[in-house]
Amino acid sequence: MVRGIWLSLSAVPFVAGAVIQEVLQDLRPKASSWAGSTTAFVFPPANVTATIPDPNFPDATQIDEFGPTATGDEAASIETAPSIAKVDSIFPLIRPGSRKSSDFEVLRHLGSLTPIVSNDADTFGLPHSSPVIPDECKLKQAYLLHRHGARYPPEGAEPGLFASKLHAAATGAGFSATGPLAFLNEWTYKLGAEILTPFGRKQLYDLGVGFRVSYGFLADAGTSTERMVDSALQFAAGFFGVQSYQTSYHQQIDINAHGFNTTLAPFRTCSNVFTNVAAYAGQRANEWARIYTRPIIKRLSKHIKGVDLTSTDVMAMQQACAYETVALGYSSFCGLFKKNEWKEFEYYDALIFWYAFGPGGPATAAQGVGWVQELLSRLTQTRITNFDSSVNSTLASSNITFPLNQPIYVDATHDIVVSSILVAMNFTSLAASGPLPSTYMPDDQSWITSQIVPFATRLVGQVLSCHADDEPTHIRFMLNDAVLPMTGIKGCKANKHGLCAFDDFITGMQARVDEIDFQFDCFANYTIPVHDSIVDGRFPQHLR
Ligand SMILES: *[C@@H]1O[C@H](CO)[C@@H](O)[C@H](O)[C@H]1NC(C)=O
Ligand SMILES: *[C@@H]1O[C@H](CO)[C@@H](O)[C@H](O)[C@H]1NC(C)=O
Ligand SMILES: *[C@@H]1O[C@H](CO)[C@@H](O)[C@H](O)[C@H]1NC(C)=O
Ligand SMILES: *[C@@H]1O[C@H](CO)[C@@H](O)[C@H](O)[C@H]1NC(C)=O
Ligand SMILES: *[C@@H]1O[C@H](CO)[C@@H](O)[C@H](O)[C@H]1NC(C)=O
Ligand SMILES: *[C@@H]1O[C@H](CO)[C@@H](O)[C@H](O)[C@H]1NC(C)=O
Repeated sequence: MVRGIWLSLSAVPFVAGAVIQEVLQDLRPKASSWAGSTTAFVFPPANVTATIPDPNFPDATQIDEFGPTATGDEAASIETAPSIAKVDSIFPLIRPGSRKSSDFEVLRHLGSLTPIVSNDADTFGLPHSSPVIPDECKLKQAYLLHRHGARYPPEGAEPGLFASKLHAAATGAGFSATGPLAFLNEWTYKLGAEILTPFGRKQLYDLGVGFRVSYGFLADAGTSTERMVDSALQFAAGFFGVQSYQTSYHQQIDINAHGFNTTLAPFRTCSNVFTNVAAYAGQRANEWARIYTRPIIKRLSKHIKGVDLTSTDVMAMQQACAYETVALGYSSFCGLFKKNEWKEFEYYDALIFWYAFGPGGPATAAQGVGWVQELLSRLTQTRITNFDSSVNSTLASSNITFPLNQPIYVDATHDIVVSSILVAMNFTSLAASGPLPSTYMPDDQSWITSQIVPFATRLVGQVLSCHADDEPTHIRFMLNDAVLPMTGIKGCKANKHGLCAFDDFITGMQARVDEIDFQFDCFANYTIPVHDSIVDGRFPQHLR
């Protein structure tokens, strides 16, 4: 068997916000001027070619003496350690407190703008589970599907629009901000657009290092080459080390643009997402936003003159807390809001995802199903023959662009794609608390985007052999280190370690693929039922 590691990603550093943005843009004023700097740093400068090696600077081979270079055995902590190391550091960000309760962890309640931390074992209902391989089993294969690290907001997103609004007010007469908002008198907008922040790069580098320590033994050595971008590059640098990451793995870059099929950006080939689905989700979420921001507007308006604060402005300030913290390390906006107001903001994010890219969306499973078809293809080493979703038949049919014999597969993608795939796979515990109301926030919530799609979120699949004959016998998945129950998948039995028998999983997942109607859910002209009857990401059968 060729040992290798296979990374795929969608090439444009595209973001969830951006899809919603693209759809909702017409509803919003366009940014005209900016409060702060918006110029981008460009490297290399015009007409300069950066080359490596650079003849002006000697490389390491010219250093006389190297010390010992023995590398040691590959780490296998996922099999050998009694527990896993949790992602629990946000270094070098400054931990913000909320208004009135400084011990409340604001950074854990920012929805899809949350920097990843490991979920506790009981997050999805399996308190006695652990990602560590059970004693009687061996790891055969690993799958990693991850989101990019922390990034700047999309062009035209709320924080920038808010900055423009302030800027316009501040250049006119009568603007003043006092008390908790006094910092706005000096505040300028310093965020870039779309690209990873330095902290975001570190998150993916850490993911690479972490994955190497846990799973490195599966991939004794990488083989051939391709170039790489952004998050995948940081992951590779972390996994392989900066000396060899450029030559140690295969990378497949899928084109992420309208008109191209790719399972890592499937919303591009699912036109209903851009029309009624996103609009409906935006409508539900905005209904909630108007409700929860009302008391905040009242409180903060006392401290600002010359600007009429709106619901969008409040959310812009909450987003600014998130974006400034992951980009600049600290944000004065975080301390403006109380604990419950952060939870309400988090709930807004849950609503968007639930109705557009979650269990409540009519085209969610359709968006995720292409990746599931590819997963089945990889698991069974069988080529896909039915191209009826977002799979690119050219790519998926080739041993070169879609090998079926790798011990590790790594796919880099976006928050909305991870959430769509989770729904396509029928991890129904995420939908256990039912449809999300847009007029109040329920106490019991199973769909919490801070846990599901934070920056650098990761879905890991483990294929295990728990018999002497070494054949795969079981499979399971964990989301940010918490094992997911598979009881929503036909044929998978309840298991405290979240394991499903390998063959049952294949049969159940094939049944799930078969029940998802990509063509109808993505292209049919339907009205989304308003009574919240959708819970598994498909347009209801009985309304077709
Ligand atoms: C870059 O090179 C082009 C073509 O030689 C020239 O027209 C242009 O002025 C140069 N730009 C800069 C910034 O030097
Ligand atoms: C499929 O992938 C190939 C190779 O990247 C590309 O040339 C082609 O345009 C893609 N087709 C579609 C429909 O996305
Ligand atoms: C792209 O997806 C569409 C829709 O499922 C499908 O009809 C078409 O065959 C696919 N094209 C390729 C090259 O995979
Ligand atoms: C792909 O690889 C498999 C297994 O090595 C082989 O049987 C098959 O012929 C190859 N297909 C092509 C198109 O090369
Ligand atoms: C997926 O989950 C839904 C319930 O949410 C269930 O009706 C359906 O049978 C499940 N599909 C499979 C194939 O397990
Ligand atoms: C979709 O259906 C509605 C209501 O039946 C109709 O008014 C509209 O023209 C249809 N749109 C398209 C693109 O067919």
